[in-house]
Amino acid sequence: MAEFDGKVVLITGASSGIGAETAIEFAASGASLALVGRDEERLEKSAQACLAKGLTKDKVLTIKADMCVEDDVKRIMESTITHFGKLDVLVNNAGRGSPSSLSSENLMENYDHMIKLNVRSVLQITNLAAPHLIESKGCVVNVSSVCGKRVMAGMLAYNIAKAAIDQFTRCTALDLAPKGVRVNAVNPGTIMTPAQTVYGMSLEQIHERASKVHPMGRAGEASEVAPAIKFLASNAASFITGETLSIDGGRHVSCAR
Ligand SMILES: NC(=O)c1ccc[n+]([C@@H]2O[C@H](COP(=O)([O-])OP(=O)(O)OC[C@H]3O[C@@H](n4cnc5c(N)ncnc54)[C@H](OP(=O)(O)O)[C@@H]3O)[C@@H](O)[C@H]2O)c1
Repeated sequence: MAEFDGKVVLITGASSGIGAETAIEFAASGASLALVGRDEERLEKSAQACLAKGLTKDKVLTIKADMCVEDDVKRIMESTITHFGKLDVLVNNAGRGSPSSLSSENLMENYDHMIKLNVRSVLQITNLAAPHLIESKGCVVNVSSVCGKRVMAGMLAYNIAKAAIDQFTRCTALDLAPKGVRVNAVNPGTIMTPAQTVYGMSLEQIHERASKVHPMGRAGEASEVAPAIKFLASNAASFITGETLSIDGGRHVSCAR
């Protein structure tokens, strides 16, 4: 019997990058999956990659939804429970960074969007999931960032949002611990996903910068984050809650010189 046989895992942002890799990781362990994203084509590609790991079609549900739309978030939870009848693991991964600073013309707009996507939607879906997770004695894994623990210059609102997710992880871990639900987070450094290419840098430039800022001398891959998410959701982590786990080649322990 595979490790996650009979477990239902809901992953937001499963159509790309870390979320897509996490879906494959859980699929390989036999989990039933609810996969959320906005881009139908890429979401379907993720679903196919999960089916290729041996899951039957009824074990993979795709839900096209925008995490910034409250009714969409309600529909995600309703569809998941209608289809699978329960929820064991919620992976709050959907999110994105965007540059901003005190001199940005669009600072307030940027702040509202960063908070709505990276924090408010996580709060809403976790709130809706909580009764189901309490029933299943399940768990939550949030995808935060090194930006939750340290400040990345020029990413003001995103840094604030990910710091809020770290604190949200601790708050909800305390809230849900007596009810048998664990809540943890992963804090990745630079991970080579499509998100990296939106800042106008070439792949070469991204690798070059990553080699300087990560003590291990390189960027990470989504395949180095997904197993840690699965670990935090597994029985092997049964006494771990409120943790924010850095996956950043040592970046969070270094300081500029
Ligand atoms: N890559 C890194 O270096 C890095 C480092 C630290 C933390 N992170 C965090 O890791 C998480 C995943 O990022 P990634 O690098 O894998 O990025 P990615 O490849 O761009 O994937 C982002 C995912 O989030 C989804 N998403 C974005 N906005 C959404 C919305 N409004 N509604 C629903 N889904 C939405 C996207 O779905 P659609 O495209 O289908 O809308 C996509 O599946 C994010 O929370 C990010 O902040 C990434």
